[in-house]
Amino acid sequence: MNLEKVRREAEKLRKIILQHNYQYYVLDDPEISDSEYDILFKKLIKIEQEYPKLRTPNSPTQRVGAEPLSEFDEVKHTIPMLSLANAFDEKEMTRFYERLKGELSINNLVFTGEPKFDGLAVSIVYKNANLEISATRGDGYIGENITQNIRTISQVPLTLIGLNIPDELEVRGEVFITNKDFANLNIRQKRENQKIFANPRNAAAGSLRQLDPKITAMRPLSFCAYGIGNYKGGIKLTEHAQVLNQLQHWGLPISSEFRVLKGLDMCLDYYKQIVDKRSQLQYEIDGVVFKVNDFNQQKTLGYVSRSPRWAIAYKFPTPEEITQLIDIEVQVGRTGTITPVARLKSVNVAGANITNATLHNLDEIKRKDIKIGDWVYIRRAGDVIPEVVRVIKERRDNVKEFKMPSKCPICRSDVKRQEGKAAFVCMGGLSCSAQKNQAILHFASRKAMNIDGLGEKIVLQLTEKGLVDDISDLFLLQQNQLSELDRMGDKSAGNIVKALKDCRSTTLAKFIYSLGIPEVGESTARALEIHFRSFSLIQKSSIDELEKISDIGPVVAKNIHSFFTQKNNLSIIKKLISYGIHWNTEKAVKKTNFDGLSFVLTGSLKNISREKSKEILIKLGAKVTSAVSKKTDYLIYGDNPGSKFEKASELEIKKIDEKSFLKMIKKEGVNL
Ligand code: IVH
Repeated sequence: MNLEKVRREAEKLRKIILQHNYQYYVLDDPEISDSEYDILFKKLIKIEQEYPKLRTPNSPTQRVGAEPLSEFDEVKHTIPMLSLANAFDEKEMTRFYERLKGELSINNLVFTGEPKFDGLAVSIVYKNANLEISATRGDGYIGENITQNIRTISQVPLTLIGLNIPDELEVRGEVFITNKDFANLNIRQKRENQKIFANPRNAAAGSLRQLDPKITAMRPLSFCAYGIGNYKGGIKLTEHAQVLNQLQHWGLPISSEFRVLKGLDMCLDYYKQIVDKRSQLQYEIDGVVFKVNDFNQQKTLGYVSRSPRWAIAYKFPTPEEITQLIDIEVQVGRTGTITPVARLKSVNVAGANITNATLHNLDEIKRKDIKIGDWVYIRRAGDVIPEVVRVIKERRDNVKEFKMPSKCPICRSDVKRQEGKAAFVCMGGLSCSAQKNQAILHFASRKAMNIDGLGEKIVLQLTEKGLVDDISDLFLLQQNQLSELDRMGDKSAGNIVKALKDCRSTTLAKFIYSLGIPEVGESTARALEIHFRSFSLIQKSSIDELEKISDIGPVVAKNIHSFFTQKNNLSIIKKLISYGIHWNTEKAVKKTNFDGLSFVLTGSLKNISREKSKEILIKLGAKVTSAVSKKTDYLIYGDNPGSKFEKASELEIKKIDEKSFLKMIKKEGVNL
């Protein structure tokens, strides 16, 4: 046979196989038998074996091929992968609906309903119809490149099919394991003396994080698409329902439970139907996701912090169990907060044995009237630490009152109540080893400075031996000092020294997060980075200025401000920077709050002309450009904003309306 003819034959087989995959995995409606399918598949394999040159990277035969990786590369998400706000009961769902109705001034809102899969979010990018790259959600901004593993999932097409395929399409969806597959997987694991997985979600997570795709290929992973991210060069998409419909036409599996719902009653009804159907579903779900169908409405509603305001996860009630509270002990946290913890008679809640539950603080104990010896209801929501829901007063007998200790159980310093707050704190500061060790562990943790190998046992030895007194001392450690520690060899000591060297190149947000400022988590650190883009500006910011950032309230603003007024902290930070910690976002120190920032104007402004706005911005040291890009810091919008508004939302660029803009320039002393 001539080569061209064979090539055409192979191409034809691939197309036919692709179509049958679609019928089977997406439509759940196979047109041929398994054995007929096998014949086609074997035929293609045979051709590709005889003519390896004709093998294409996305041929259906090429799902598992790649060699094991040594680690996953990082992938930056073009559009962040956000999470969803939750509603836990009908009241909260109704409140959400009413709020949106009010904001959109529309009476009958159209939503879509889908199950909330209990798996892992992934992004899969197709370029010119071919699967190009896939990543985990990670921290929402940066995930891990798991392309090799995603390719092994039969339900994920390697090539898109159908009409109007865009130049670039980022599919977002959930990887999970069905209940039946999970049961079979654990039977196999047991037979092979391998790890037994606690639940389908853990099994899916473990399987996706395999460095060897051959292992992933043996795990029964499933996939369901629920949305898109980046989208270029395709037909205009205006509704979520249209997106899912298109995804299905392009060969991606979507939920068979997906519905378009008009008005609140239909949403509540849908929720009830899914609750009833839950046990019959093949996979684990933990709620229902409602999304505003219309993209224009989504755009108007926008985002808060890490979640869209146009969607909600209406969660199923969390299971509760009864047990006895045997004692209340206190734990000293990284920032000195004393947290009472309930010690419980072991009880199984939703598949996990629970022996401890957080009691948050003394006010909470009083409010719930919890006493030592009480019988209590325990609840566990997802991966979060279990909590005491309420006391069964009728069973109360021979109980003891809990008293907050007056001395820290770790360092014996005084314990004091924080002004105006529920929390009690140890006043020992960095001299309290609980805080010292925790601060170091937090600093070294993966989402902070990511110092691999610096675990609890090592940190304890380092502080006990006096080698490390605060986080900056880590950077003075020598390999021989480390290798002398218990559980350490020359090699692991060398690895830590290398990790300490490598970690110094970081991001501003990670650095801020790593400092362990009370209540400053990743998201707040990120907000600070985006707003100020300069460490020295954050350090110098006033409480007022901090409070202006959305998501930073008065308490967090105070925490940040007081952190940077402590001499001790400033000297540690100075040392850290002198030891080489650096990041890239820092810009030249600004003269005004506008200096160096990049602005785009859109829509019609009422009280000031665009020209005038531009002139003022430039005078204040800002740049004004016509197009929104990743480099844009702010979008100022007036009435009827166009596609720039949409683009800015996509890129998560801060948007300010005319009123706020006028306020901002007024603060800089500009009078119109
Ligand atoms: S939409 C911006 N739809 O829930 C909203 N998420 O808390 C993006 N999830 O990490 C998510 N089922 O892994 C959406 N039908 C569904 C979902 C779903 C499960 C997960 C997803 C995400 C988390 C959000």
